[in-house]
Amino acid sequence: MDPWYRIANADEVASPTLLIFPERVEENLRRMIATAGGAHRLRPHVKTHKLPQVLALQIAHGITRFKAATIAEAEMCGMGGAAEVLLAYPLVGPNPRRLAALARKYPGTRFQGVVDHPSGAEALSQAAVEAGVAIEVLLDLNVGMDRTGIWPGGGAFDLYASLARTPGLQPGGLHAYDGHLHQADRAERREAMAGAFDRIWRLESRLKAAGFPVPRIVASGTPTTPLMADRPGVELGAGTTVLWDFGQAETCPDMDYLAAAVLLTRVISRPTANRITLDLGHKAVASEMPHPRVRFFGLEDAIPVMHSEEHLVLESLSADVFPVGTAVYGIPRHVCPTVALHGEVTVVRGHRAVETWPVVARSRRITL
Ligand SMILES: Cc1ncc(COP(=O)(O)O)c(C=O)c1O
Repeated sequence: MDPWYRIANADEVASPTLLIFPERVEENLRRMIATAGGAHRLRPHVKTHKLPQVLALQIAHGITRFKAATIAEAEMCGMGGAAEVLLAYPLVGPNPRRLAALARKYPGTRFQGVVDHPSGAEALSQAAVEAGVAIEVLLDLNVGMDRTGIWPGGGAFDLYASLARTPGLQPGGLHAYDGHLHQADRAERREAMAGAFDRIWRLESRLKAAGFPVPRIVASGTPTTPLMADRPGVELGAGTTVLWDFGQAETCPDMDYLAAAVLLTRVISRPTANRITLDLGHKAVASEMPHPRVRFFGLEDAIPVMHSEEHLVLESLSADVFPVGTAVYGIPRHVCPTVALHGEVTVVRGHRAVETWPVVARSRRITL
């Protein structure tokens, strides 16, 4: 029996490409839903896959709310019939107007934004009023990552309170992304999360006590998902769980998901006795992380020695069993930016590449 990732018709598939295994995607969705205690608890980030077909699988499994980082990802969700999309990224320049335009164009989808500063609220308000739409806005909170978000103190309370008085906007709750919490030890991660989120729960209580609606809290990336699942009502915003990668598998040894995206590459040269050169350069696999950037099946001892735009050179004692032309399969360390490097992915069912899917939201603009 061939290993699960190997395809029988590899000869028909040009490399490099990213293979997507929908059956494994669906198994990951089932595991996410089980961890969360129901599809209603999930608000997965679509930046991981950027694919309408994966969005459709998520919707088929009962997930109705999504998270996006770009206008194009949000539009993909609108086109796919998502009930709600939170654009969890500060909107500047023309983007408030683009979000308002999405709300007009896809009335079946509720588009939500985030703000962490009064200027963001003003820009969204102006765009919403001009477009004649109402936009729900979540307050983006800094839980210690220090990337975006307002500190969950008095200023945050005042900014949230002001949303209720701002034309075109509706207070939509709180957003807190905790990407800095990735302790490998689950107990340590839980403790760090409890410390980081204590202020968020207190802010929520204060807002509610003052009579402000806090309809939802959206929190957590992949590492904190199983822990945040214990907090009723919080919507879980992990993205990577749907395709999985070896970076998250290393970070979270306590989490059990299936690799559902595999790179197919080929040996293009054997420049020395123990070197293998693959057609898997920076332009085909995310390279912002240290090596190894891919875990290759059958090349567990390989050491990456050179990586350029179109080439990845490995040294291995098994180099001899990889003649020029050999198809090599591997799991990326970081799947989200890897997907974004591919114009289309190759879909595998029953050990065969059966179709390609364009990575629609890879573009910065779909129609708006
Ligand atoms: C704002 C935000 N939410 C959610 C996520 C998803 O987290 P993860 O990649 O751990 O699944 C990310 C990831 O970068 C993010 O930036």
